[in-house]
Amino acid sequence: MIVSHLRLKNWRNFQAVDVPLRSRMFLAGPNASGKSNLLDVFRFLRDIVNKRGGGLQQAVEERGGLSKIRCLAARKEPDVEIEVHLAGSVGEACSWKYSIGIRQHQRGTRLPYLVYERIWQGENQILDRPNEHDANDEMRLTQTHLEQISANERFRDLAKFFDSVLYQHLVPQLVRHPRAFTGPGVPGDPFGRTFLERVARTPDKTRKSRLRKIEQALKIAVPQLKDLAEVKDEAGIPHLEAVYEHWRPMGARQREDQFSDGTLRLIALLWSLLEGDGLLLLEEPELSLNAAIVRALPAVIYRLQGKHKRQVLISTHSADLLSDEGIGGEEILILTPTSEGTKVDAASAIQEVRDLLENGFTAGEAVIPRTMPKIGAQLWLFNA
Ligand SMILES: Nc1ncnc2c1ncn2[C@@H]1O[C@H](COP(=O)(O)OP(=O)(O)OP(=O)(O)O)[C@@H](O)[C@H]1O
Ligand SMILES: [Mg+2]
Repeated sequence: MIVSHLRLKNWRNFQAVDVPLRSRMFLAGPNASGKSNLLDVFRFLRDIVNKRGGGLQQAVEERGGLSKIRCLAARKEPDVEIEVHLAGSVGEACSWKYSIGIRQHQRGTRLPYLVYERIWQGENQILDRPNEHDANDEMRLTQTHLEQISANERFRDLAKFFDSVLYQHLVPQLVRHPRAFTGPGVPGDPFGRTFLERVARTPDKTRKSRLRKIEQALKIAVPQLKDLAEVKDEAGIPHLEAVYEHWRPMGARQREDQFSDGTLRLIALLWSLLEGDGLLLLEEPELSLNAAIVRALPAVIYRLQGKHKRQVLISTHSADLLSDEGIGGEEILILTPTSEGTKVDAASAIQEVRDLLENGFTAGEAVIPRTMPKIGAQLWLFNA
């Protein structure tokens, strides 16, 4: 299943978003234009349904409260609204529609609550809250039906889809030194503190097969690296190990603390593409990687999306990443900050970009210059 359409109102730096989505989408825009905020909508839905979490209340609290989520540019319509359409694949009819509006009690508990929660299965609306039960007890509206196992039986598939959202923004230092960073961690471990445990928890056969595939793919980027495997040290702590061939004829075994940043990020990127089939959110996969590798990533991602084309949303600043000729204008969202919040358009909906693409420019050439800040001399002349 994929999210085929996204509508937002007053979510972070967006006053209104209304865009169709493909199974592979690139999000391009200047710094602070809201690429991560846009990906965060899907993490928010995942946090709501998370079985170990505290549903809507915790999802809002983890983001610092509704006042942090609600768009600062919001005026007349103060509710935060999210609507997603799900379909089997691109072009198929919408199989689920989920929509919520969230507001905060002005007095008393000051808890966030649902102004409405609606679910459609195909054409049929199967949930419409507030309903008569909600009318008797206003606390009921502080929870979604999606997060309640007793209430979500008819739309468990929808809850499962949101639960399978995976967000990846690996920080190599966290993988190398997980014990140096203590604290409760972040839901879903996007930064990779428990990445090695995730690898170790995977059943033997699956893990070995994935690591073999990753090793194959790594051959282009890091040809010296061989025999990638998961091993445990004397204390039972999992590590990644590989033979690194160099001047020593037998090569030397290295562990993740000696792998380069790019190697670790690439391993984690490929691992998450091979792991699961839910919606995958990738933050700037180009980081630490050589331009030639970055240019090859869209094709790798496309191949690893599999037969059913698992959905992948990718934030990027890289013209190299978007230089692949297979990327269409409808696969790119351009985020443009304005005084009324950030606007989001498919690149194919902007005439100027369409013209460039039709004239043989790559998506990177047509799109990235639009996202670049105009830098004069002032940046370099600041007073030290
Ligand atoms: N509720 C809100 N209302 C308005 N703006 C907000 C709100 N919450 C966050 N922002 C703004 O969103 C911006 C950050 O957006 P985000 O981190 O998504 O940008 P980005 O495109 O991912 O940038 P980068 O490329 O640097 O990672 C900040 O400028 C922040 O002030
Ligand atoms: Mg970001």
